[in-house]
Amino acid sequence: MPAIVIVGAQWGDEGKGKATDALGARVDYVVKFNGGNNAGHTVVVGGEKYALHLLPSGILTPGCTPVIGNGVVIDLSVLFSEIDDLAARGVDCSRLRVSANAHLITPYNRTVDKVTERFLGKRRIGTTGRGIGPTYADKMNRIGIRVQDLFDESILRQKVEGALEQKNQLLVKVYNRRAIGVDEVVDELLSYADRVRPMVCDSGRLLTDALSRGETVLFEAGQATMLDVDHGTYPFVTSSNATAAGACTGSGVPPRAIDRVIAVVKAYTTRVGEGPFPTELHDEQGDWLRERGGEFGVTTGRPRRCGWYDVPIARFAARVNGVTDFVLTKLDVLTGLERIPVCVAYEVDGVRCEDMPMTQTEFHHAKPVFEYFDGWSEDISGARSVEDLPKAARQYVTALEEMSGSRISAVGVGPDREATVLRHDLLDG
Ligand code: GDP
Ligand code: IMO
Ligand code: MG
Repeated sequence: MPAIVIVGAQWGDEGKGKATDALGARVDYVVKFNGGNNAGHTVVVGGEKYALHLLPSGILTPGCTPVIGNGVVIDLSVLFSEIDDLAARGVDCSRLRVSANAHLITPYNRTVDKVTERFLGKRRIGTTGRGIGPTYADKMNRIGIRVQDLFDESILRQKVEGALEQKNQLLVKVYNRRAIGVDEVVDELLSYADRVRPMVCDSGRLLTDALSRGETVLFEAGQATMLDVDHGTYPFVTSSNATAAGACTGSGVPPRAIDRVIAVVKAYTTRVGEGPFPTELHDEQGDWLRERGGEFGVTTGRPRRCGWYDVPIARFAARVNGVTDFVLTKLDVLTGLERIPVCVAYEVDGVRCEDMPMTQTEFHHAKPVFEYFDGWSEDISGARSVEDLPKAARQYVTALEEMSGSRISAVGVGPDREATVLRHDLLDG
């Protein structure tokens, strides 16, 4: 079963890091293919907690090779501080490979991210402020800086000069900020060149060669389906393709190589930043979910907005990604509720709608139609097989499975790597 993609089904923070890490021992490569250090994945191994941003979650598995694909945007200072922090805790990062074609987040991209958000005011996206959007914009505008540019100083300088000619006009004349000097940017970037050089690879070649040898490659998405720049709740999205197809463009493997697509979906829903969210709770039930689920951002510390499970979103994720298996996470967080609301459809301007509406306006108007399921009060965090779950919890999982468009193969009952109930083998069937 050589190539598997893991994506988020909702608005991020579903527990992709834990799912990737849990499969780590069965795969040879773990590849990050989109996004950058806007991602935050918490992985708990034997009680030890790791917060990963730029590094693929496979980094924690000895013997597995982590790869940063061409579709990722890299802040080199973050990359090396993450590597140093992990090395100080005894994690070996020496196998890490980085695509020569990946784009670099420069100091001016970070500045532009922050000032545009401030300038947008009420219309802001609520970005993570890490320079993600402006770096992808430069890539599409063909004025981006890539990893390989670090090894040709004169090209690097020309490219930075070209980009800053535009950016400084914007920063000084529109945003009233100081101009950024070419030398400071070039010097900062070059200071990482020697350290990154031994890691650099052609990710497409590396991974297609591995696949043709029968090795197993796991592609780990950052962000999620509803944050995908094409398929998500645009403009309240990130700037990359976080859906399964992004694994191909973001790494250089062909679409026919992909065998399985696993979507990670929370037993309820959360969102960070601005944008529509039909099942959002604005009352004490939302606060209860946030506290119980520890729903505070790994990257920015922001409280996450919380709401109930949304079936139209799960079905949409199943369709867009071609999901073969769902991993349902954080079921334990719902313990103690008498009844659990699930959004089974929307009402849009008085009309019942089973699926994601076509337009942004309709989605903004979507009101959830709820069905209610029995809750349970037993502690389920020690459950390791379906039989260990109380009947009502089993029924909740089965009901979600019937409505969401693909089988639920694993259920998370706690943050630790081991805290999972397996229903089907994720890499088979
Ligand atoms: P990611 O960005 O998709 O990797 O998810 P995050 O790491 O940002 O957020 C998920 C959070 O839930 C992390 O703190 C995980 O440790 C935690 N987590 C993952 N699965 C479970 C689960 O099944 N139960 C509980 N209680 N926590 C979980
Ligand atoms: P993981 O991988 C949740 C959100 C931001 C903002 C929007 C755009 O941990 O699931 P950006 O900085 O990417 O331009 O911000 O996307 N966002 C995330 N929300 N989880 C993430 O990553 C996110 N990455 C970006 O909050 O609304
Ligand atoms: Mg996260």
